[in-house]
Amino acid sequence: MTDIRPYRADDLAALYEICLKTGDSGKDATALYDDPKLIGHVYAAPYGVLAPECCFVVEDAEAVGGHIIGARDTYAFEKQMEREWWPALRGQYPDPKDVPPGRHTRDQHMAHLIHHPDRTPRKISEPYPSHLHINLLPRLQDRGWGKRLVDHWLEAMHRMGSPGACLGVGLSNQRAVKFYRAYGFEEIAREGNPVDVLILGIKLSSHPSTSSG
Ligand SMILES: CC(C)(COP(=O)(O)OP(=O)(O)OC[C@H]1O[C@@H](n2cnc3c(N)ncnc32)[C@H](O)[C@@H]1OP(=O)(O)O)[C@@H](O)C(=O)NCCC(=O)NCCS
Repeated sequence: MTDIRPYRADDLAALYEICLKTGDSGKDATALYDDPKLIGHVYAAPYGVLAPECCFVVEDAEAVGGHIIGARDTYAFEKQMEREWWPALRGQYPDPKDVPPGRHTRDQHMAHLIHHPDRTPRKISEPYPSHLHINLLPRLQDRGWGKRLVDHWLEAMHRMGSPGACLGVGLSNQRAVKFYRAYGFEEIAREGNPVDVLILGIKLSSHPSTSSG
């Protein structure tokens, strides 16, 4: 049976794998990286390690095939990453500072992010304190698990007292943009020059998935 369950510490390898296999605008990014763990170091593993209470997985007869991961309080989580997550990785991956950002390989881009992580502006994290990443392997896509996972995660954030949640999605990932908009997320910012990322948000008090709780 396929079902959603809370993250466990032994799911960490699945977090890395799913992140890599959906890391190219929703498609498999394996061929794009020399180091297959780099993208997961940035976008997946820290959530399982530092915020397991905000992580859920979908498991079928084969294995864990999807996850929704994030943080209840983005501002506090980014500070915690600065203390507890980035220092070890900074020792392992040098800052590619001799290469201009526009010419970074994918590995260098991740190493750059390890040394210069994105910071969420207060004007976003105050009204939308929580943030999420959702990724499903192809065998679990288009079967309603995305909607169920987001429902499940927003309910959990609502129970933890969060008034809103946000996420970033690449404009090149039009399938995901369409999914989030259909779900009810609204655009709150655009990032990049030229613009390549949409920041979408949702208020939890008014959303049907949380209004009964
Ligand atoms: C983007 C993503 C999270 C969406 O999740 P999903 O499970 O594929 O989406 P859903 O199944 O909930 O909804 C997609 C479609 O399936 C339909 N659907 C919903 N429930 C369904 C069900 N029980 N059976 C069949 N189809 C269903 C939806 O109506 C929707 O149709 P539409 O595209 O015509 O609107 C998922 O495809 C994914 O992980 N992609 C790869 C990684 C990625 O891009 N992540 C986002 C990074 S920002």
